[in-house]
Amino acid sequence: MILVTGGTGLVGTHLLASLVQKGDKIRAIHRKSSNLDAVKEVFSFYFDDVTAQFSKIEWIEADITDITSLEKVFEGVTYVYHVAALVSFNPKEYHLMRNINIDGTANVVNFSIAQKVKKLCFVSSIAAIDKTHKNGLIDETGDWTVEANNYGYAITKYGAEMEVWRGTQEGLDAVIVNPGLILGSGCWNTSSGKIFSEVHKGLKFYTEGVTGYVSVKDVVKSMVKLMESSIKNERYILVAENRMLKDILFNIADAFDKKRPSVKVTTFLAEIGWRLLYIPSKLFGTEAKLTKQTAKSIHNKYHFSNDKIKKAIDINFESIDDVIKEVCGNFKR
Ligand SMILES: NC(=O)c1ccc[n+]([C@@H]2O[C@H](COP(=O)([O-])OP(=O)(O)OC[C@H]3O[C@@H](n4cnc5c(N)ncnc54)[C@H](OP(=O)(O)O)[C@@H]3O)[C@@H](O)[C@H]2O)c1
Repeated sequence: MILVTGGTGLVGTHLLASLVQKGDKIRAIHRKSSNLDAVKEVFSFYFDDVTAQFSKIEWIEADITDITSLEKVFEGVTYVYHVAALVSFNPKEYHLMRNINIDGTANVVNFSIAQKVKKLCFVSSIAAIDKTHKNGLIDETGDWTVEANNYGYAITKYGAEMEVWRGTQEGLDAVIVNPGLILGSGCWNTSSGKIFSEVHKGLKFYTEGVTGYVSVKDVVKSMVKLMESSIKNERYILVAENRMLKDILFNIADAFDKKRPSVKVTTFLAEIGWRLLYIPSKLFGTEAKLTKQTAKSIHNKYHFSNDKIKKAIDINFESIDDVIKEVCGNFKR
């Protein structure tokens, strides 16, 4: 029995679509508030018989922060894909993010040890990769420090990795993947799916920041291949290409036949912007669209190496331009 957490999000829905095709027994968790229609929408990009494929999954209501709800979930489980997390750059959600990402992962690890699962795959992020390499591409070898990467989401993903490594010390076999920004169809209003809906709505701003991008299909492919291999207790950056955000946004706008974002957000503009948005967010308790942390991070230029994963498994990453065309096509559907 394979267990998937986060099966209603961008990565989880595509992972479930891949796993149902293999014929294994699959269990997935959802919360009362989860949108199961998001899973069906993603399944519609893969299958004609969506209902039949969806019904192959055993859904159990559970929350990774609620130990009692997890007891039934782990019965008979042999492999675990732990995908669930809160992805947020809102400082107000930092403590909730610690609870879900770190404590929730500790719970999943503890149940996996108790259940003697054969292997766990944890989805981390390039946020938990050290970026202080002075020469060449960023790889998996640096020592992450809070001082160099001190923002909420990164701290919680790194903390979650620590829980997985602790599990490996207690006998659990695990693999960790560290994807770059994930592009894929569906979940248009959560996580990285928002990029497509924002450009479609007429996003005006762009930056020349550089980071790693990867398709959701390649993330899923890598996870499944690593789980089916004899590899254990390793982590892998999953990045197909390092690209400027400007290029990505322009390509999406072109694929939608929309006007390209036209306002370049300079460091100066971003510094002014987050301060201006901070005041109303404090006064009215609303979410600021630009925070101090995001204002700083959107200008970073990070180039990641994908050498380690390419040596470990047979993978040819999809071109990001092709991925954008496909995803925009599905969005328009
Ligand atoms: N998207 C990216 O660009 C990106 C890049 C690198 C790494 N990642 C990592 O990839 C993983 C998946 O991201 P995603 O983009 O698929 O995110 P997403 O679309 O926001 O999905 C998050 C999933 O986690 C579930 N979840 C959140 N809190 C939970 C809780 N307390 N108990 C149980 N389930 C909970 C959500 O369930 P509900 O449906 O109930 O909300 C949802 O299924 C995350 O670990 C993220 O850190 C994402």
